Amino acid sequence: MSEPLNIGVLASGNGSNLQAIVDRIEAGAIRAQVACVITNNSDAFALERAKRHGIPAFFLDHRLFASREEYDAALVEKLREHGVRLVVLAGFMRIITPILLNAFPLSIMNIHPALLPAFPGLHAQRQALQYGVKVSGCTVHFVDEGTDTGPIIIQAAVPVLDDDTEETLASRIRHEEHRIYPEAVRLFVENGLRVVGRRVIITDMVSTRS
Ligand code: GAR
Repeated sequence: MSEPLNIGVLASGNGSNLQAIVDRIEAGAIRAQVACVITNNSDAFALERAKRHGIPAFFLDHRLFASREEYDAALVEKLREHGVRLVVLAGFMRIITPILLNAFPLSIMNIHPALLPAFPGLHAQRQALQYGVKVSGCTVHFVDEGTDTGPIIIQAAVPVLDDDTEETLASRIRHEEHRIYPEAVRLFVENGLRVVGRRVIITDMVSTRS
């Protein structure tokens, strides 16, 4: 049986998606390990979550770097040091450059709290409420040069209720994030994702693996 695949998680905040992925790995549902967690925010609770699970965790302060490219080069170095094959952005609130993208081609995933291509960028839940949509949700996608524009892997929809606030909508969406992000990671690990142009075809190999 092959070695577990090494995942590097980049997070800026609470890290609940990191937690969901770690929980599925520890439950034996994903043949992978989180090899490192890197944050650009020294207060990120994601750091604490990593430590609780014995995962190497690093704070890389973007303010110490002259450019986004230099920061991303440092990220690449750290990820390579830990043998990372899949990079998971889990609430990582930074625009990434081709330095990181080209180091991990079609191997960087992001989760966004809207049904892309609707409401990309910041405050997706606020955008959904202001627009007045009746359905929103979340999207896991491969990262490309654009903001939230890469090939879509999995989406999940939730209703938008009349009395929703940003917080209640975010919480309903987060519940679905914690389901579909680990599933997208599992599919990647099982070689169950094939990218054809902009489309991601799911060819789940789970039933045939040895
Ligand atoms: C998640 O809701 C994720 O969709 C969002 O940040 C949150 C991170 O939560 N990401 C973005 O808005 C990226 N554009 P977490 O730190 O608890 O995983």
